[in-house]
Amino acid sequence: MTYNFSRRINELKPSAIREILKVTQDPTVISFAAGNPSVETFPAKEMAEIAADMFANRAGDALQYGVTEGYNPLRDVTAKRLREKYNVGTDNDDLIIVTGGQQGMDLTAKAFLNEDDVIICENPSFIGSLNCFRSYKAKLVGIPLEFDGMDMNVLEETLKQEKNVKLIYVIPTFQNPTGRVMSLEKRRQLLEIAKKYDVMIIEDNPYFELRYSGEYVPTIKSMDTEGRVIYVGSYSKILSPGIRLGFVCAPKEVISKLTVGKQVSDVHTNLFFQMLAAEFLTKYDLDAHIEKIRDIYRAKRDAMVKAMDANFGGMMTYEIPDGGLFMWGKLDDSLDGAELCKLSGKMGVVPVPGSSFLVNDKETSPCVRFNFSLPTFEQIDRGMELMGQALKEYTAK
Ligand SMILES: Cc1ncc(COP(=O)(O)O)c(C=O)c1O
Repeated sequence: MTYNFSRRINELKPSAIREILKVTQDPTVISFAAGNPSVETFPAKEMAEIAADMFANRAGDALQYGVTEGYNPLRDVTAKRLREKYNVGTDNDDLIIVTGGQQGMDLTAKAFLNEDDVIICENPSFIGSLNCFRSYKAKLVGIPLEFDGMDMNVLEETLKQEKNVKLIYVIPTFQNPTGRVMSLEKRRQLLEIAKKYDVMIIEDNPYFELRYSGEYVPTIKSMDTEGRVIYVGSYSKILSPGIRLGFVCAPKEVISKLTVGKQVSDVHTNLFFQMLAAEFLTKYDLDAHIEKIRDIYRAKRDAMVKAMDANFGGMMTYEIPDGGLFMWGKLDDSLDGAELCKLSGKMGVVPVPGSSFLVNDKETSPCVRFNFSLPTFEQIDRGMELMGQALKEYTAK
């Protein structure tokens, strides 16, 4: 039987990370590949109590269909916190609950991108989003990512040259994969440039509350006076990713289009977990919970830095991120991160090659991404010892 699939799906490759993760099913392999939070950060006990009460007293509501925009108490508590704590959202905005931030990107792409429209992305960027934009057959244009965010000169040149640019996609705080933060000055510049060329911005911000050092930088959305920024947030990294709860805060007109898009996609986000999260957020102190997560990850980041210092011996440089879940390592420009990962995989330690995050995924990259939230302290130490050996072998070739 020959299956005649669409071009949209035929041209999509499986995420390189998902493929790498198959290798890490082997319990003897140390994985620095996944972007998963640590299970010890999940408020499982509190959730179990709320779930028991929900089944006992509100099963009818929780197991019923819900509305597409989301469960109102969760929308309200989310919008209120964003507005009061981070100045995100205005009277012209609305908020929709989505099935993870990933669906926020998908619905935005569905609402804005016709085939061959241009979406500008940081290069490197998050694979899940790049693949989402590819699935709409958009043209992805990558802008080099500097230590303080996108190269604004290249961005402006690109906007002068490219026709039909609809969206600029950025992860300004603790970027995936690099962990970098866009400076305040570049955030302002980005808004100005987007205004000049009349392009919308997607601000994808799932990591910004996981800050372990340095100063808070305001969101781009909080500086937007025109309704140009679509803000995508997520409960994945501050509650749990398995509950699949994210949100989009954007102008009402945009949210109503996303709502229509979602109706034909999954009708609404899982109501049981929306109700559960709403109750958790009302009953417990989310900020205190996030503070605990920060303490855990700060210690893991520091452990990874120490282990890299001890084992890398100048063969790979690395950036110490102020937050997020990743460290970004770089070999000499003439070397290939993918080759290093192949070799380290054979030795029992698996990071992700930087080339997986490139807009043009046929290019090579001397970079490698390491996750520090999921491995244990022992795995970080042992894994970096093995990485050091792989580096020695690879750079001696
Ligand atoms: C930058 C970025 N955006 C969005 C997501 C999607 O997260 P979720 O769909 O779990 O909210 C991720 C997940 O790793 C991410 O790294």
